[in-house]
Amino acid sequence: VNIAVIGASCTPYGEWWDKSLRDLLAQAQLTALEDAGLMPKDIQEIFVANMCAGQLSGQVNLGAMAADILGIHVPSTRIEGACASGALAVRAGIAALESGRAEVVMVSGVEKMTDVDHTRVTESLMSATDYETEGFVGATFPALFALVTRAYMHTYNLTREQLAQVSVKNHKHGALNPSAHFRKEISVHDVLKSSIVADPLTLLDCSPMSDGAASIILSTPDFAKKINKHDVKIIASTQACDTLALSHRKNITQFYATQQAGQQAYKQAGITPRDINLVEVHDAFSTSEIIALEDLGFFDRGTAGHEIAQGTTNLNNRLTVNASGGLKAKGHPIGASGIGQIVELMQQLRNQCGARQVHNAKIGLAHSMGGLGATVAVHILTNKE
Ligand code: COA
Repeated sequence: VNIAVIGASCTPYGEWWDKSLRDLLAQAQLTALEDAGLMPKDIQEIFVANMCAGQLSGQVNLGAMAADILGIHVPSTRIEGACASGALAVRAGIAALESGRAEVVMVSGVEKMTDVDHTRVTESLMSATDYETEGFVGATFPALFALVTRAYMHTYNLTREQLAQVSVKNHKHGALNPSAHFRKEISVHDVLKSSIVADPLTLLDCSPMSDGAASIILSTPDFAKKINKHDVKIIASTQACDTLALSHRKNITQFYATQQAGQQAYKQAGITPRDINLVEVHDAFSTSEIIALEDLGFFDRGTAGHEIAQGTTNLNNRLTVNASGGLKAKGHPIGASGIGQIVELMQQLRNQCGARQVHNAKIGLAHSMGGLGATVAVHILTNKE
């Protein structure tokens, strides 16, 4: 894979009661165009990621909305893969460029989650489980992740305090990110004392419900050179699936789809995990960050939680993980999240991140997961020639 990222932008994530789904999408799309120095007419195809708008905003057909915002009539398609929707849309954009049918595409993602009662949002998110066997009987995402967490803590002797350090670290990073939903540092004590959502997970172990949008502009290397925007490129883009239902897995303390997508991504890029110095992983719940780092080969099985607790993954330590604040603190507007991760890597690789800048950022990996490890996509970006 050799695809240039020539523009990137993210709205701040948070509770935006004064902004509609369309407002947020428009804000991300227009600022991404500005970042690329392009006009709407330069975009030849659009992909827009979203999961819940049909249920929460009464709006589908977001492909047409994304093109309408730009006032252009190009092919524009909505992509859905639960929380991995954004990353899947990036893959669709790459495929359009690789097929030769387009030279420049826009990939956007948006979600509006705070306008309705949280019970409705939880129900909508449950449609990403195997609804017949899980969602229908009331298994929410925090509940399913609580099962995974218990199994992991039992198998690898992870303490409740060590688990809490994931959120402490991500809130510390989020406090440095002007676009983050939560810009507040928290302590282990805060995590343990916050209300229980699904034992052992508390409120501060969970990603929030956020409004937000993100947009990137991708092009062929030749087009990027023509406009002198060839500094950051995608060198791997992979995707894998596992069983939809958690109960159909042999092992729930690791996710096969992440392992597959990760290994294929390293092969595509011709690198190993050791070459990577910044990672944005899907930390919808604190346990998901720990498992993802092991599945991606950054740490041995059963050790990532201990490493995080020791600070190994803090900003500018051995491997910076979720410099943006991750889904936990930056926020998790489902459709936007996978693209927001790429925006973060792009800005890090361009040295634009100020207080949360990863020194000497050279190769970054983004990992996005839809459902409980059912759909995973991995991207690797670099600023190396
Ligand atoms: N992290 C930190 N603070 C949070 C938070 C979170 N995840 N969620 C809410 N808050 C804050 C709110 O800002 C609010 O603060 P305030 O009182 O200062 O205004 C307070 O906590 C209570 O918020 P409320 O909206 O009442 O929370 P809630 O109980 O309705 O929802 C969760 C909290 C954790 C249950 C909900 O965010 C959730 O279900 N998250 C998981 C979403 C999910 O499953 N995503 C898909 C993952 S695959």
